[in-house]
Amino acid sequence: MNQRPIGVFDSGLGGLTAVRQLRRLMPSENIIYFGDTSRVPYGNRSRETILKYARQDTRFLRSFDLKAIVIACGTVSSNCLTELRAENDIPIIEVVGPAAQRAAAVTKNHRIGVVATRATISSGAFANALGASLDLMVFSCPCPLFVPLVEEGRCRPGDPVIELVAEEYLRPLRDNNVDTLVLGCTHYPLLADVIGQIMGPDVALIDSGAEAAGALQTLLSEQDALAEREKGSASFYTSDRAADFQRLAALFLGKDLPVQAKQIDITAY
Ligand code: DGL
Repeated sequence: MNQRPIGVFDSGLGGLTAVRQLRRLMPSENIIYFGDTSRVPYGNRSRETILKYARQDTRFLRSFDLKAIVIACGTVSSNCLTELRAENDIPIIEVVGPAAQRAAAVTKNHRIGVVATRATISSGAFANALGASLDLMVFSCPCPLFVPLVEEGRCRPGDPVIELVAEEYLRPLRDNNVDTLVLGCTHYPLLADVIGQIMGPDVALIDSGAEAAGALQTLLSEQDALAEREKGSASFYTSDRAADFQRLAALFLGKDLPVQAKQIDITAY
């Protein structure tokens, strides 16, 4: 048993989709979340900048006595994992490996699509992780407009803007007959209905944040490090206005968890 909290971070609100899954799978855990809303999106930035931001995010979370960190961001997972693991002496779970493993297990025709930010796709992390597991055809597509649209709440079927953008990005993947699509960015599960409508019911969508949550549960239970308490808590920190974070958080978390966020100066870490 280990009662220490789990730290989770993302460039913004997308990582809350992973928090939702963590709470569903492990309701006894205490969670500390940081969303870098003043600097989102990371996905169009250079690797140097993403690494600098990710180190600050990690240092802020390490100011708490954590048992593990979840990088609930595809962009950081695919660009900074080696450094963050080398610099931290607690387990770090990321979103690329677990999602790639699930996709490889689910595909029947061995044709897998990956949608993610530009920085994630250009890192090649998903293609490498998938290439390592099986003889697969991987079709990758950067979708830079998805994150700002999700952060604006433009993510529901029937919204003509997101439907047009999604059709444009996803058509080549559909034409390539993928039967499995990795949502390689933690913002994208909010678009699952829109994406599912365009790809059709036979295409399996893989939620990378949910897969990371499952990987952490497996690790903690193997290490006998799950918490034991009736109900875990969740604390939220953000680098921009707390009120904005709180307003949008419900969209990502569902209505079950009232969010009180605290603004911090991430540049101090
Ligand atoms: N949540 C981030 C990710 O999973 C996307 C947002 C961003 O570009 O910072 O890559």
